Amino acid sequence: MIIETIVTTIAEDGTLNCAPMGVEWGSDHLVLKPFLETATYRNLVSARAAVVHVIDDVRVFARGAISNPSYPTVPASLVRGLVLADCCSWREVQVRSIDSTPPRSRVEATIVHTGIRREFVGFNRAAAAVIETAIYSTRLHILPREFVESELTRLQVIVDKTAGPNELEAMALLTAYIRSTANPSTP
Ligand SMILES: Cc1cc2nc3c(=O)[nH]c(=O)nc-3n(C[C@H](O)[C@H](O)[C@H](O)COP(=O)(O)O)c2cc1C
Repeated sequence: MIIETIVTTIAEDGTLNCAPMGVEWGSDHLVLKPFLETATYRNLVSARAAVVHVIDDVRVFARGAISNPSYPTVPASLVRGLVLADCCSWREVQVRSIDSTPPRSRVEATIVHTGIRREFVGFNRAAAAVIETAIYSTRLHILPREFVESELTRLQVIVDKTAGPNELEAMALLTAYIRSTANPSTP
């Protein structure tokens, strides 16, 4: 099963990177599949460690999809890394193998520490709709514009029916970003 997470990694110069990543879930190990051009991939290669967060604030997915946002952190316990202070739970992982076959790597990592900061309350349809929209925002260069527009319309209905303030804010941010980004596939 793939769980949509927020992954923090540390660059060689000490910069914190924060990115949404779908992760193959396991009880003692995880598999990350960052594309080779991502900072997450570069940092996993150099630091051989990451912190994988379960978080219900979809604004972090929205901002992380379109930028490298900064949030309050606390030091990880067993790896060189930082834990997002507002996450629900986190896994600290050590990389055990990296397959860098293009275009997408396969990084197998052992869970060396797990922590919980607060309860994950439950599923919300608007949150899922924001996560879909965040994924589209990272694939605008390969998706037809008509498809993206029809999905925005469909997903906005779900957001309008079921969102709280965080989901409304995240959806508005992504919609503005998508609408302001020229579609490279459109002449
Ligand atoms: C929910 C979600 C899941 C994602 N999963 C992946 C993934 O598994 N691999 C990947 O390379 N990018 C994935 N992305 C896209 C990256 O988050 C995006 O390209 C990001 O800009 C990469 O950040 P980085 O260069 O800071 O590592 C995902 C985006 C979202 C919103």
